[in-house]
Amino acid sequence: MSDEKMKFRVGLGVTGGIAAYKAIEVLRLLQKSDCEVRVAMTKHATEFISPLTFRALTENYVLVDDYEPDNPDPIAHINFSQEIDLFLVVPATANTLAKFANGIADDFLTSTYLASTAPVMVAPAMNTTMWDQPATQRNIANLREDGVYFVEPVSGELACKTVGTGKLEDVENIAAQALSLLTKKKTNSPEAIGKSQDLNGQKILITVGGTREAIDPVRFISNHSSGKMGFAIAEAAAKRGAEVTVVSGITTVEPPDGVKVVPGISAEEMHTSVMRELSGKTIFIGAAAVADYRPRSVADAKIKKEKKDSMSLDLEKTTDILAVVSENRHQGLTVVGFAAETNNVVDYARSKLEKKNLDMVVANDITKKGAGFNTDTNIATIIVRGNPKAIDLPIMKKRELADNILDEVLKLKTARKSA
Ligand code: CTP
Repeated sequence: MSDEKMKFRVGLGVTGGIAAYKAIEVLRLLQKSDCEVRVAMTKHATEFISPLTFRALTENYVLVDDYEPDNPDPIAHINFSQEIDLFLVVPATANTLAKFANGIADDFLTSTYLASTAPVMVAPAMNTTMWDQPATQRNIANLREDGVYFVEPVSGELACKTVGTGKLEDVENIAAQALSLLTKKKTNSPEAIGKSQDLNGQKILITVGGTREAIDPVRFISNHSSGKMGFAIAEAAAKRGAEVTVVSGITTVEPPDGVKVVPGISAEEMHTSVMRELSGKTIFIGAAAVADYRPRSVADAKIKKEKKDSMSLDLEKTTDILAVVSENRHQGLTVVGFAAETNNVVDYARSKLEKKNLDMVVANDITKKGAGFNTDTNIATIIVRGNPKAIDLPIMKKRELADNILDEVLKLKTARKSA
């Protein structure tokens, strides 16, 4: 490996789906990013695309069947699998996922999965009905448990002319996610070394969802927050061994397992719950979209519209929970805020970091496609106190972003400890 450039070795697995041709583009993108790529294909994949194409592009023998007489390496599945930094499968069919999940190794590619110690990333592509099948979803859940990384399929028009989830993610995004994982592995981040229980001992308090500010017994002021981002962080943190408490406003998703959930429907209720739960915590993350203003007074009875052509609400500021937590922080508490912006994202986020004396701000431009409220993905920039460079992240699933955020929090805590 050269000192200036990192060189990664990627084992690219190609399985038998119509999206197999897109693996060529992923291969080219990885090569452009200085990766050395070797290809393994299933027999069915060769019906869609010839091994010769990959052979020409990689200048290497393409492994389909290691029993073939012209295979130069008789124990290829062992050698191949142990010489790679990542095993990336594009596209991954339902059949291959099922084999991986059940330890079936009846060809070269599936044997490589079993024989490899490298991280495995799969980009599934299939018909929506196959994707939605309980059997497929069970296999996916098991593979996630086993530590397999997923570049999830997106919704769109499929080869079978139906519209639904199952379309291979954009090749640029697959390559970006593979490179991001490889880089993290190289820099020894917790993401790559299996993360397992790296948040063991951390006690995390997270505010999640949107608040509701009552106008009268029937009406309220609220916002579009779904709670997906906050719950994704809670899930990731719990999985990595942290003790997690969530103060939850209004959300559209179920809380994850293994997390304590305390209600905080209005800003004031959320504030009270946070202050009650804060003692002994090591990390506070303000992921909730807390209303900044609430009606100064709440009508006891339903407000009637009779004889009123217009009406105005007198609003007062709510308590800024994040600012109060930061101001009264106990030793060892790391405070993280969110900034959902529509313009000057980094500048506004930095000013929030300063104004509220935060350790980190996760900023996003909610006008971007694939970012913001109620989506499953997000595009974030992380700003860390003391680091003049903002960390720009590509579009990714909120659950994956959750791990990235926690990685940065952990890095910051470790740096402070050793300072
Ligand atoms: N926050 C909070 N309590 C409030 C308001 C916001 O804890 N009453 C937290 C949010 O959870 C988030 C961050 O503060 O982590 C957002 O910062 P803020 O400056 O309030 O952003 P906006 O509400 O978008 O305000 P602005 O209109 O100034 O951009």
